[in-house]
Amino acid sequence: MAATAAPTPVIKVAALCGSLRKGSYNRGLLRAAKDLSKSISGLEIEYVDISPLPFLNTDLEVNGTYPPVVEAFRQKILAADSILFASPEYNYSVTGPLKNAIDWASRPPNVWADKAAAVVSTGGGFGGGRSQYHLRQIGVYLDLHFINKPEFFLNAFQPPAKFDSDGNLIDDAAKAKLKDVLLSLYAFTLRLQGKCA
Ligand SMILES: Cc1cc2nc3c(=O)[nH]c(=O)nc-3n(C[C@H](O)[C@H](O)[C@H](O)COP(=O)(O)O)c2cc1C
Repeated sequence: MAATAAPTPVIKVAALCGSLRKGSYNRGLLRAAKDLSKSISGLEIEYVDISPLPFLNTDLEVNGTYPPVVEAFRQKILAADSILFASPEYNYSVTGPLKNAIDWASRPPNVWADKAAAVVSTGGGFGGGRSQYHLRQIGVYLDLHFINKPEFFLNAFQPPAKFDSDGNLIDDAAKAKLKDVLLSLYAFTLRLQGKCA
């Protein structure tokens, strides 16, 4: 009798972008990642919008409950196996909107805990690299486990053009590197969950 192949484990990834602007290059990275995930069996990416979240104010917490929009966000993070951050650099760090979202989901119970994560970024110069290292530091307290490699930084402004006028990633080399990040995140998430040999 022929052996049946084990089913491919499904990993659900929540994708968050630190930029709120419509033409965000970083959100363009997440659209590209979602597109690339179609060629990775078992990897499912859902974009989670952080723009509706209010500024964190613990006065909005009533008897351990959160405003509905915050609760909906927290549930999306809780339901995910791992997190993909697109984290632009504002003044050498993560953006205010992203930190705000992180802080809401860190309130008790901390819904980031024990999840795998990856971070990518694009922008000028270092391509958002300093933001990535601050985000990794934040992850220490949250018990978020970032893949170490590959790292992905993309200088958005160095010719040839990396994005079209709608903020879509059009650079094939960058797409290939982005796919390597996704493959690494998939493998690491399985390792963390004890689902691989
Ligand atoms: C408030 C602010 C601060 C910024 N600080 C930095 C910075 O420290 N380093 C850097 O390389 N780019 C900095 N930038 C540029 C952004 O990282 C860059 O425009 C990036 O493309 C923004 O991401 P987005 O295209 O996804 O919106 C800053 C932009 C803003 C609005």
